Amino acid sequence: PARSDLSGLEVAVSAGGTREPIDPVRFVGNRSSGRQGVALALAAADRGADVTLVAAHVEDGVLAEVSRHPRVRIRRAGTVDELAAAMAEAAGVADVVVMAAAVSDYRAAEVSERKLSKEDAGGEEVTLRFVRTPDIVAGLADRRRPGQTVVAFAAETEDDADALVDRALRKAARKGVDLLVANRVGWTAGFGASENAVVIVSGAGDVLARAEGAKREVADSVWDAVLSARHPR
Ligand code: C5P
Repeated sequence: PARSDLSGLEVAVSAGGTREPIDPVRFVGNRSSGRQGVALALAAADRGADVTLVAAHVEDGVLAEVSRHPRVRIRRAGTVDELAAAMAEAAGVADVVVMAAAVSDYRAAEVSERKLSKEDAGGEEVTLRFVRTPDIVAGLADRRRPGQTVVAFAAETEDDADALVDRALRKAARKGVDLLVANRVGWTAGFGASENAVVIVSGAGDVLARAEGAKREVADSVWDAVLSARHPR
């Protein structure tokens, strides 16, 4: 029988990759498929939670199954600002907030209203200026409601397992989150793949769990860790 250990919980999950415009036809994006975030939303709903899934850009077909789930509402967000606004709204009523989206760290300092042309650039090189985006999950953690659990993700290209855990622990503390799920990504694993391998750490500095397998299995391990963090024994 299906578990219902998340029933009564309202959760907000972000998934996919943001796209920051450069001009009307170009953007800066990333390789996030949205699969891990969508698996988290689906796992939570299957386990009884009411879910708001804030979907940035995801690969074709990734939303098909989750969009049919009666306990999942989907909100779309293209840019960092749209994602921040949608997550702030969802977090206002959520018991658990999970930021699985791949958020652009930078955006164009100026977005051109006209398509940039080779004539404008006028040579063999062009320079675009980028500025930092706000850290959405750090802001959500800062404004955390009493009893609310905030979870961040981290995609690292670190080869060394110990170094990856060290980075995860530092990042969890820096962002002020309760849990951080770190995974190694490369050109072929992690982003876009159907499997994942993660280490889950706490903001308090503990390595809580490791999980490996289908993104759905990893999602269930994340929810197990969330439940343990909310109900320590
Ligand atoms: O610092 P880094 O980008 O590695 O952190 C990843 C985590 O922070 C993810 O949970 C991601 O959704 C979140 N993030 C964010 N806002 C940003 C950049 C990342 O919420 N501007």
